[in-house]
Amino acid sequence: MAIKGAEKLPPSVRTDLIGGHFRSFRKDATGFLERLSKLGDVTSFRLGPQQAYFLNDPELIRDLLVVNAHKFKKGRALQRAKTLLGEGLLTSEGEFHLRQRRMIQPAFHRAQIADYSRSMVELAEETSDNWRDRETLDIDREMMHLTLRIVGKTLFSANVEDDADAVGKAMTSMTTLFNFLLLPFSEWLQKLPLPHSKRFKSARGTLDSVIYAIINDRRRSGENKGDLLSMLLNAQDEDDGSVMTDEQVRDEALTLFLAGHETTANLLTFTWYVLSQNPDAEAKLHEEIDRVLNGRSPTFEDISKLTYCEHVIAESMRLYPPAWAIGRLATEDHEFGGFPVEKGSLILISPYITHRDKRFWSEPEVFRPERWEMQSVKVAGQRYIYFPFGGGIRRCIGEGFAWTEGILLLATLAGKWKLELDPGQKIALQPMITLRPKYGMRMKIRSRI
Ligand code: HEM
Repeated sequence: MAIKGAEKLPPSVRTDLIGGHFRSFRKDATGFLERLSKLGDVTSFRLGPQQAYFLNDPELIRDLLVVNAHKFKKGRALQRAKTLLGEGLLTSEGEFHLRQRRMIQPAFHRAQIADYSRSMVELAEETSDNWRDRETLDIDREMMHLTLRIVGKTLFSANVEDDADAVGKAMTSMTTLFNFLLLPFSEWLQKLPLPHSKRFKSARGTLDSVIYAIINDRRRSGENKGDLLSMLLNAQDEDDGSVMTDEQVRDEALTLFLAGHETTANLLTFTWYVLSQNPDAEAKLHEEIDRVLNGRSPTFEDISKLTYCEHVIAESMRLYPPAWAIGRLATEDHEFGGFPVEKGSLILISPYITHRDKRFWSEPEVFRPERWEMQSVKVAGQRYIYFPFGGGIRRCIGEGFAWTEGILLLATLAGKWKLELDPGQKIALQPMITLRPKYGMRMKIRSRI
């Protein structure tokens, strides 16, 4: 018997696996989406009972993120993330989200980022001071630790470094366990005393106690340290002058902590990897850094002169976008490219796939920072052929922070070190919440000075 409405479904791949598309997706998500993308700009698949659609066309992506954004809310992964993040910026919806976004925005203004940039360089220098010539390091871990300390410092200030480390450890175990939350039925599984659920609860408990203690201390002292936490505590609603409750500050702080460190860490890890595979680009990068900085540390003002650094970051993020997929749930019926999409459907878009599409990029698999001399990041972004930070009202609030951090960390570390891939290192992708290197990234570091 024909399924009702099936004749209106966009093309899909056949699957003979028990568990259907859901298993194919879990086994190799980027490969699965790539196969779908070969069938058209709008394709369909099923994740268990859920009807899902995949869009790989710039105009349709704009339609989803910008033009008709009001007809969609965050996808399942972020709905589930509420267990950890509460009603933070990443997970909240509607009027509440808009209000929070307005209150938090000043923490990401240019002057604030210029201020954070000093901590970024300082901490990158500390990392550099700990490195030894010719040692082999897990660069993925080094980058994770560094970006975590940066978010920790800009959020909580230097004198709570110990606490920031405790937060960091709990964060790391939370991120690993996060995948568990995405399993079907995890809503129920979480209520059972399984090891996963217990570890999740205990990590959440650690994070909560540390963050609430910091919030209480700061409220008591009334001090304005000029960091993100002070901004959250002092942020006032423009309309009614209200401030955030401790619970809201907790949700936002944790959200920014989580959203702000793993993404930039993975961006940098893949950047070291592509540079190690492209000696010409690496040499050009070193030449620029040596010329602009002449051995000194970079500052916020240097960023406009470090154009090749910027192009390396842009190109690394094209090939390895940390937020590799973005999901939405339709809250109303809609239509994409002539195909009706019912309320309740899941819509997926993927920077990873669109950034590697031959129709929009010449030799898309090749790492070529020079392509950004011809086409600015802004223009590619406006065309939605390049959207590592999403778009519309839910666009990444930390975009300026991330560019600044990426360029300054690259300039600080590549000024002193050259990184070579360990010959035994296997390379594969692990598309979890963010795109990670599946087997880590062991690299040998060599002094350049
Ligand atoms: C290379 C680094 C980063 C990438 C690729 C990235 C990517 C993204 C993307 C694609 C979204 C939109 C998700 C969606 O529409 O469903 C997003 C949202 C968000 N990001 Fe980032 N991000 C990065 C760094 C950061 C940093 C450094 C921070 C904070 C310090 C941050 C905080 C956030 C927050 C709070 C949201 C939710 C915004 C909202 O919904 O209003 N991100 N990010």
